[in-house]
Amino acid sequence: MPVVVITGASAGLGEAMALQLASAADHTVVLIARRKDALDAVAARCTGKGAAAVTAIVADVCKRDEVERAVAAVLAAHGTIDVWVNNVGRGCNVLPSALTDADVSDMMQVNVMSAIYCMQAVLPHFKARRTGTFVNVSSMLGRIPHISTIRSAYSASKHFLNGITGSFAAEHAAEYPDIVFALASPGVIGTDFGLTAGSADSRTLPGAQDVDECAAAIIDGAIRKRQRETYTQPAHKAMMRQHLESLVPAE
Ligand SMILES: NC(=O)c1ccc[n+]([C@@H]2O[C@H](COP(=O)([O-])OP(=O)(O)OC[C@H]3O[C@@H](n4cnc5c(N)ncnc54)[C@H](OP(=O)(O)O)[C@@H]3O)[C@@H](O)[C@H]2O)c1
Repeated sequence: MPVVVITGASAGLGEAMALQLASAADHTVVLIARRKDALDAVAARCTGKGAAAVTAIVADVCKRDEVERAVAAVLAAHGTIDVWVNNVGRGCNVLPSALTDADVSDMMQVNVMSAIYCMQAVLPHFKARRTGTFVNVSSMLGRIPHISTIRSAYSASKHFLNGITGSFAAEHAAEYPDIVFALASPGVIGTDFGLTAGSADSRTLPGAQDVDECAAAIIDGAIRKRQRETYTQPAHKAMMRQHLESLVPAE
């Protein structure tokens, strides 16, 4: 059975993706997060949903050595990794004119370096198998910066994540055409994200997408179909077309 690893699986979108994959019972599911109690509770719910196999690994993916230990633990337990979902991410509510060094480096560490550590640690395994899927959970704020000025450093970090994902793909495309570097770009999702960022509960924001609906869109688009780009709400494709058009000067 294919092995899917989800970082940030103790809550929110990661938890929702894990539960849906567990219900489908067609993947071995590996959960990663820092809080052992929350992670064990999600693992138990996955088992209750009928998951064939679930493994929970406590690790902080902002630390390279903990990522390397987690990857080794997955391979020791299951022998392979088919899909690695870089879902860990956090917001930060500071206007661009007020950003501190600490704000920017925190966003880069959580939203970018965590994914780079994971991709670098898993790539040797994918290269040896000549296949594998990375799913990097980005954001519409990683595509259109001016949607929210208060999420400035978060938005910029997701733009960086998109850029580095494209660079990883370009580096490996010719020699490893079956290693996929996919991006998923949700809008607002009803999770603890806003509270963790010290702002309003995301569930109360206009247009907040139900977390299960968002998880289903990412599983279908990025995990099952291995699409390079997944937008979790149909209206976002139209927003993207309009945004891209606005970047090109009229003739
Ligand atoms: N919610 C939104 O409105 C929204 C919109 C667009 C994109 N996104 C993106 O969607 C992804 C998931 O967000 P969410 O809304 O589900 O957030 P969430 O509810 O706050 O969940 C975040 C998860 O990441 C884990 N985590 C945080 N730092 C970690 C670390 N250093 N190492 C390991 N695990 C860590 C947390 O668990 P522990 O505390 O146990 O480690 C938790 O399981 C993020 O990449 C976010 O940027 C969210």
